[in-house]
Amino acid sequence: MTEVTERPRPERWRNYRSAAGGLQEYWYPVALSRTIRGKPRHTKVAGHEIVLVRHDGKVQALSDRCPHRQVPLSTGSCIFPGHITCIYHGWTFDLKTGQLSAALTDGPRSPILGQVKVRTYPVEERCGLVWVWTGEGKPIPVEEDIPSEMLRPDAKCFYLIREIDANWRYAVENGFDEAHAKTLHRSSLWTLFKRLPAWHETEIVSSADRKWITRKPLAVHESDDYPGLGRWPTFKPWQLKRKNAAPNTVSVRLPCTLRVAQAGSFGWSEFEWYAPIDKDKYRYFQIAVNWPQSWTSRAAWFIRYWTYIIWFHHYDFNNQDIRMIKQMPDSHPEHFFRPDVSIVSWRQLAEKARDFSGSDQANSDNHAPAHVTLQA
Ligand code: FES
Ligand SMILES: [Fe+2]
Repeated sequence: MTEVTERPRPERWRNYRSAAGGLQEYWYPVALSRTIRGKPRHTKVAGHEIVLVRHDGKVQALSDRCPHRQVPLSTGSCIFPGHITCIYHGWTFDLKTGQLSAALTDGPRSPILGQVKVRTYPVEERCGLVWVWTGEGKPIPVEEDIPSEMLRPDAKCFYLIREIDANWRYAVENGFDEAHAKTLHRSSLWTLFKRLPAWHETEIVSSADRKWITRKPLAVHESDDYPGLGRWPTFKPWQLKRKNAAPNTVSVRLPCTLRVAQAGSFGWSEFEWYAPIDKDKYRYFQIAVNWPQSWTSRAAWFIRYWTYIIWFHHYDFNNQDIRMIKQMPDSHPEHFFRPDVSIVSWRQLAEKARDFSGSDQANSDNHAPAHVTLQA
């Protein structure tokens, strides 16, 4: 076994450290599609203040700062079809191009016309969500940044979306973290009937398309003897040993996406985005996905989600994670131990994040090394 011990070294994880406010050349989910209508709505993603508004069935996104005096355009309104008018002095912008079409309070022939525009952002809608491209480069197809399982036409998704006061990178690391579930989540209702082991020997492997890295358990130590302390953990009588009990399969990909394929016969997966709002806040998308093939299984999926998955998993279980992430200071000394091979691997992945090289095509070769062989 290889010991993985990391001490803080400022030159390490350069991309990771500079991306406190979010990786830029990516598509991010920002809102549920059904919540964006004809009334302008503000959002913020990866440091970008954005106004979203639906016109002719399509969502448009513009910078949410009027170039005149920086008042948010989202406080304005769509007086003219296909345009947004600033509430303060009436500058009116084309939703598609961002060009200033009129400065109402300076008459129809205002000399400012043709001199000003606001930034527009590429927008797509998939899986019931609005996606915004925050990059400087030409956007790649949005499907590149959405897990293929979610794009399947038979995918049935339930969403919980909330804003968390913490840095997005710690949230990703928590999601992919090898060790914490075995202590932190032992008290959750979600694991009440599960035998959470003491520790795993783990390998991190890349998917064939090199987008995901996955924690692969090599050996499970259900309980163990700790010198001078005794045996840990002990199990409750109702935590029965199950034959062939498989662990969940946990994977992560850029920019901030987690997948937990749930073990067992129910066959659902949890997808999460920790979409940065800025360096102090992220938008937490918790998406439970299943692929029911009949109306009875669709009904069962609906019932299962609303009777226990949302309460026990999305709230009780994941709130334990949130409590930890919120308590991590901005910058802190780190002293890694073997299970942090998961975090080291994620940071290696983040170092290879897509970037804007100055060409007209964003670099899409952003993915994981072929195989990460660190082993705890
Ligand atoms: S601030 Fe928007 S028109 Fe003046
Ligand atoms: Fe957790």
